[in-house]
Amino acid sequence: MIDKDKNRETKEHKGGTNPQGFDRIVREVFAPIYPVIAQQIVAKTLTTSGRCLDAGCGTGALGRAIAAITDLHVTFLDQSIGMLRFAAKYASQEGIKECSFLEGDIHNIDLLDESMDLIISRGSSPFWDDWHRAYSEILRVLKVGGHAYIGGGFGTKELKEQITAHMSKEKPDWRDSFKDRIKAEREALPQIMEKLNPASHTIIDDESGWWVFITK
Ligand SMILES: C[S@@+](CC[C@H](N)C(=O)[O-])C[C@H]1O[C@@H](n2cnc3c(N)ncnc32)[C@H](O)[C@@H]1O
Repeated sequence: MIDKDKNRETKEHKGGTNPQGFDRIVREVFAPIYPVIAQQIVAKTLTTSGRCLDAGCGTGALGRAIAAITDLHVTFLDQSIGMLRFAAKYASQEGIKECSFLEGDIHNIDLLDESMDLIISRGSSPFWDDWHRAYSEILRVLKVGGHAYIGGGFGTKELKEQITAHMSKEKPDWRDSFKDRIKAEREALPQIMEKLNPASHTIIDDESGWWVFITK
C-alpha cells in the first residue's frame, strides 16, 4: 500500500480510531459471530463466486469468513489503514489468496460501476455520515442482480446476548454509543430505498440483530 498521506496513521476515523483495541475485542469477544453470519449470507444470497466487497471491514473478520467458505475474491475496504493492516495480516496467515485491500471511504468508493457480485458490511453503517450517498455508492458498484447484506447482526440470539453482556461490563457506554445512529439509519432507509429503487430490499430484524438485504 502506497503512503500518500503522512497523517493517515494518526487520523481520527469514526468507528475505527483504535485498530489494536478493536482487534483484541474481535479476537476475544466477537470472533464466534463471523462464521455464523457468513453462512447466513451465503444461504440468503446464494453467491459463492465472483467478487465480494467487505465495506468497513475493520480487521476483515466477516470478509475472511466469507472467503473461507466460497470462491469469492474479497476486496476489503476501510478508511483506516491500521484496520486494513490487520485484515491483510490475517488474510495472509489464513492462506486467503483471492483478496485485495482498498483504503477509502464508503461515500466515494474507488471501484468501477457494476463490479461486485456481493457487498457485505457489518457494524460499519452507524458510522457513515450520509446514508443516501453510501447506499447509492453501494448500488453503483453492485452488478445488476447482485446482492448487498448490510447491518449489525450477531449471528444468533445467544451470541448477541453473550456479547452484549461482555461488552456492557467492559465498556458500559458501548450500546448507547451507536444506538441512536442505528435508529436514525433505520428511519432513513425507507426513503433512501424509494429513491434508489433497487429491484428489492428486505429488512431482516430478529433476535440476532438487524440487516438490510438488497438485490439490485
Ligand atoms: C465497528 S467496526 C466493524 C468492523 C467489521 N466490519 C466487523 O464487523 O468486525 C467499523 C469499521 O467501519 C469503518 N468505517 C466507518 N466509516 C467508514 C467510511 N465512511 N468508509 C469506510 N470505512 C468506514 C471503520 O474504520 C471501522 O473499521
